[in-house]
Formats: sequence, structure tokens, C-alpha cells
Amino acid sequence: MTGIRPADARDGPALTALDVATWSPRVSPAPAPDPASSFFGGGHRPEDVLVAERGGRVVGYLMLHQPVPLPSHGHVLEVNGLAVDPGHQGRGVGRRLVEEAKREARRRGARKLSLRVLAPNASARRLYESCGFVVEGVLRDEFALEGRPVDDLLMACAL
Ligand SMILES: CC(C)(COP(=O)(O)OP(=O)(O)OC[C@H]1O[C@@H](n2cnc3c(N)ncnc32)[C@H](O)[C@@H]1OP(=O)(O)O)[C@@H](O)C(=O)NCCC(=O)NCCS
Repeated sequence: MTGIRPADARDGPALTALDVATWSPRVSPAPAPDPASSFFGGGHRPEDVLVAERGGRVVGYLMLHQPVPLPSHGHVLEVNGLAVDPGHQGRGVGRRLVEEAKREARRRGARKLSLRVLAPNASARRLYESCGFVVEGVLRDEFALEGRPVDDLLMACAL
């Protein structure tokens, strides 16, 4: 059974390990993460991270943040990190995290949850669509990944 809880600072190494295990150029335009890097060292706050646990083990996470720190944009939160351990994918963990993120965003007063996803990331796109997200914009050829132009999609869900 999967439990969802807020992260705490001690989860950092497990969260970095998830980033390392799930990274590919289909999933992220950033370079491969350094396994020795500190997850919470770059300004991420534990209270913005939801952690999925199975059998006492961290198997997934989702991170929320406010993309534009202006009062006029305070009703919008963004998902800026989602990963499920490859050994636990396809069992509903990603869906649990996204649904809990929608509840948490509503609790924080948001009326819209947005995100960006690379066009070739079909599994993530299907997950978001099945959780109520729609494509609001396409950034054509936004990234050059493995020598090819790749579109980035803006998706959002009304809360
Ligand atoms: C995307 C990701 C988080 C999905 O997590 P998951 O736990 O496997 O997803 P779930 O089991 O909850 O599946 C939910 C839905 O997602 C879609 N989905 C998940 N994996 C899929 C796959 N391999 N192919 C097609 N659709 C898939 C399906 O619509 C699925 O619903 P269904 O089971 O009713 O068919 C996971 O594959 C992952 O960590 N990928 C690498 C990191 C990543 O891409 N992050 C998103 C960056 S924007």
C-alpha cells in the first residue's frame, strides 16, 4: 500500500536517488543529476515535497512551487518535479502523488496547478491528462536534446 506524506530533510538522499534513477533526456532537459548532490541544497524546501512510501521505503516524490512570486500570480502553483522509482512504476504511485498535489494546492489556496512536460514523455503526459490537465501551450523546439529539437508543453489543471 502506498502512503503519501510531506517530506522532511532526512529524505534528501532518497530523493536524489530517485532523480538519478529516473533521469533521461526524454524526461528532463537538465543534465543527468549528480548522485552526490544535495536535494535540498538548491533552495528546494521539504514542505513543498510530497513523498510516496511503500513498505517504509521512499518510492516517489512530487514537488510544488510558486513559479512567479507575485501577489497577482498567487493563485497558481506549479509541479516542478515528479519521479517514481522504476521498480514501482505502473502501480498508481504517480497518480496518487498528482491527486494529492491537487488537494495540497487547493489547501494552499491555489486555483490552478500548472507544469511543463517534454513532448516525448508520453507516460507523464498520459498521467497528467488522466488527472485533468490540459495542454495550454506548446513551446516549439524549446530544447535541443541528443541533437534533436524537442517541444515543451505547458499543461494546467483548474482546481
Ligand atoms: C511519469 C511517472 C511519474 C508515472 O508514474 P507511475 O507511478 O508509473 O504512474 P501510475 O502507475 O500512477 O500511472 C498513471 C497513469 O499514467 C499513465 N502511464 C504511466 N506509465 C505509463 C507508460 N509506461 N505508458 C503509458 N502510460 C503510462 C497511464 O495513463 C496511467 O494510468 P492507467 O494505469 O490507468 O493506464 C513515472 O513514469 C516516472 O517517474 N517517469 C520518469 C520521471 C518523469 O517523467 N517525470 C515527469 C516529468 S514532467
